[in-house]
Amino acid sequence: MSNQPVPVELRDAAPDPADLFVDAGLERGADGLLRLGGVSLEAVAADVGTPAYVYHAAVIRDRYRVLESAFAGLADRIHYAVKANGNLAVLRILKDLGAGADIVSVGELRRAQAVGFAPSTIVFSGVGKSDQELEAAIEAEIGSINLESADELTALEWVITRRPARPPVPVAIRVNPDVATDTHPYITTGTRGMKFGVPVELVPQLGRRIAANPRLELRTIAMHLGSQLLEPAPFVRGVERLIGLVADLRRQGIKSVTSLDIGGGLGIRYSTERPVGPDALAAAIRPLVEPTGLTLHLEPGRYLVGSAGILLTRVLYRKRSGGKDFVIADAAMNDFVRPSHYQAHHAIVEVTAHRRPAKLVDVVGPVCETGDFLALDRRVAEPFPGETLAVLGAGAYGFVMSSTYNARPRPPEVIVDRGRFAVARPREKLADLFRDENSDPFSR
Ligand code: LLP
Repeated sequence: MSNQPVPVELRDAAPDPADLFVDAGLERGADGLLRLGGVSLEAVAADVGTPAYVYHAAVIRDRYRVLESAFAGLADRIHYAVKANGNLAVLRILKDLGAGADIVSVGELRRAQAVGFAPSTIVFSGVGKSDQELEAAIEAEIGSINLESADELTALEWVITRRPARPPVPVAIRVNPDVATDTHPYITTGTRGMKFGVPVELVPQLGRRIAANPRLELRTIAMHLGSQLLEPAPFVRGVERLIGLVADLRRQGIKSVTSLDIGGGLGIRYSTERPVGPDALAAAIRPLVEPTGLTLHLEPGRYLVGSAGILLTRVLYRKRSGGKDFVIADAAMNDFVRPSHYQAHHAIVEVTAHRRPAKLVDVVGPVCETGDFLALDRRVAEPFPGETLAVLGAGAYGFVMSSTYNARPRPPEVIVDRGRFAVARPREKLADLFRDENSDPFSR
């Protein structure tokens, strides 16, 4: 059986959006079957059922290497943002490549530790770390606690004074550099008036407080501008701000800062976007950073895993109502919330091509919410009940944002690698949904 992709013009149906993901290892063979890394997605769906997430290991490795070589000599470490996809098998792939981890909770710390990330390669971001989380981070001797407010610094100082003296705890100040970005308002973070980071004008004061505490060491000035950024310009403006702040601190005699953390945010292509690639981004930033002698840290999430994953779902029913055609799939907003939450566009393709003409439909899930959809007013090759669909670009912020709303067990996560597939996390069991609940909590 040939596995060669069929050129778009040979098909009578609408262009196949799967073609957009050829560089993510997705190919439609002449037999009409969609394969990921050479593995038939019909075979995966038959084996593990639907809905199911499938991640292609080679794509994650490839993206990591591209990023690493683009920033060679500039970035001494790439901290993978665990929040994008915290599956242990995914974490292991990245750890084995030499990545560090960017975490935002003690839960993510435990995930990173479970696969053996060296503690010194872990950085801890987030606006609201609890005392317990700060304790756990210090205990684990992680590489950096990225502080986001004066109150958080107070909490850290308090936690440290209760602990035995150790070498100073490395910290960063995450700055809100007030840089405008062109992305969805829910995922823009580096603009004035957002909850993230320390306002620029307060950084010198916070720097002085940290420098005055012998149990802390200010090593990094950090930012994270937002997610799914397509242009280099905001990064450039942000880096200029950070470099200016490091210079201010040095003028005040604070010379301990050795690195800049520019956060994550590198965008990917979901449909027609033309995101800046790592090479162009590094080229834009390099001339600013190199003369300073500072090293760079990155915290990419989506770029490394987004295109590597798909969500398999099966069509349950079709229905026509109020002049609209609905395709009712077995994946819902609880499984994959990006379409409903951010009106995010994710290509949806049939897993076995039937060469039917395109039809305008809403692809919806079974959850009892009008906002439960995978796509609205979308032209898709007309699917019928029982057929399998693939939602593309679902590797980042997919499973990690899933819930059990409507008492729906969360889907399994499958890894494809070297022409084989294996379940990295099984489908949640019905019994797990209420295992620890008590219908009569007052009784003993
Ligand atoms: N560093 C920090 C401090 C972050 O807050 C984030 C993401 C990242 C790094 C990684 O950003 P990335 O490279 O993945 O853009 N759920 C949303 C995205 C939320 C991003 C939150 N922070 C979505 O589905 O689009």
